[in-house]
Amino acid sequence: MAFKELRFFGRRKGKAINNSRQMLLDNMLPKLKPTLPSEGQTFDFNTLFGITPKEVWLEVGFGGGEHVAELAKMYPDVGIIGAEPFLNGVVSLLAHLNGSHTGESTHTDLEEGRADNVRIWPDDVRQMFPHFKDNSFERVFVLYPDPWPKARHAERRFINQANLHHLHRLISDTGCLYVATDVANYAEWAIEQVALSGLFEQVNKDIHQAPVDWVPTRYEKKGIAAGRQPHYLVFRKKKEKIVK
Ligand SMILES: C[S@@+](CC[C@H](N)C(=O)[O-])C[C@H]1O[C@@H](n2cnc3c(N)ncnc32)[C@H](O)[C@@H]1O
Repeated sequence: MAFKELRFFGRRKGKAINNSRQMLLDNMLPKLKPTLPSEGQTFDFNTLFGITPKEVWLEVGFGGGEHVAELAKMYPDVGIIGAEPFLNGVVSLLAHLNGSHTGESTHTDLEEGRADNVRIWPDDVRQMFPHFKDNSFERVFVLYPDPWPKARHAERRFINQANLHHLHRLISDTGCLYVATDVANYAEWAIEQVALSGLFEQVNKDIHQAPVDWVPTRYEKKGIAAGRQPHYLVFRKKKEKIVK
C-alpha cells in the first residue's frame, strides 16, 4: 500500500513542546530515526542499529515510550523499533532514553552508547511494513491501542484483517503478537479478528494474568489506578494459514 493511501486518525501533537525537549527532537531523533529504504527495498537489521541484534521486536504506538525504554534497558542485545505518530510521545521516549526524563541528565542529545538498540519511527507504523523482510520480528507489541468504540469507526481499530496479514508476514515462525487492552470489547474484537484471519493462535489461557516479565505501560498503570482491568492476549503465528 502506498504512503498516501494510509490515513492516520489519531492525534499528532499535544501541548507545546518546550525548548529543551525541542532540542531532543532536533539533536537526538535524527540519530535514532531510520531512513526508509526506497520502494521495493528492505531494512537490514545488521546495520540499522548500533548493535548487531540477536532478535528484533516492534512496538506499535508506544505512547510516552516508557515500555520501549524499559525493554531496551532490560534487553540490550535485542533491537527494538518503536513507532508513534504523536510527537509529544516521541519526545517523551527520547527523554526516557537519555535520562533527562527524571532529571538524571540534562543532556539534550544522545549520550554515547545509550539507545544503541532502539530505533524510532515518528509516524504511522504501516509506512514501514513494506520495508521489513518476512519473519523480521520475534515480538510485536500492540499495547492499549485506541479502542475506537463506535461501530462506524471499527475499521480504524489497529487489530484488523489488513494489519494481521502484514504482521503474520513480519513475525517469525517462533514469534508472538502481544496485545493488551483494558477495554473488554476490544479484547473480544481482537480475539474475533484473529480467529477470522486464521493466522495466529492464542497461547495464553488466563487473559487477566500478565505474561512473564511484563512491563506495564503508562496506559496500563493509569487504567489499573482507575479500576480498569487489563486483558493480555498473546498470539503465536501459525506457520501455515489453516483454511476452514
Ligand atoms: C491509547 S495509546 C497507548 C499508548 C501506549 N501503548 C501505552 O499503552 O501507554 C495508543 C497509541 O497508538 C498510536 N497509534 C495508533 N495508530 C498507530 C499507527 N498506525 N502507527 C503507530 N502508532 C499508532 C497512537 O498515536 C497512540 O499514541
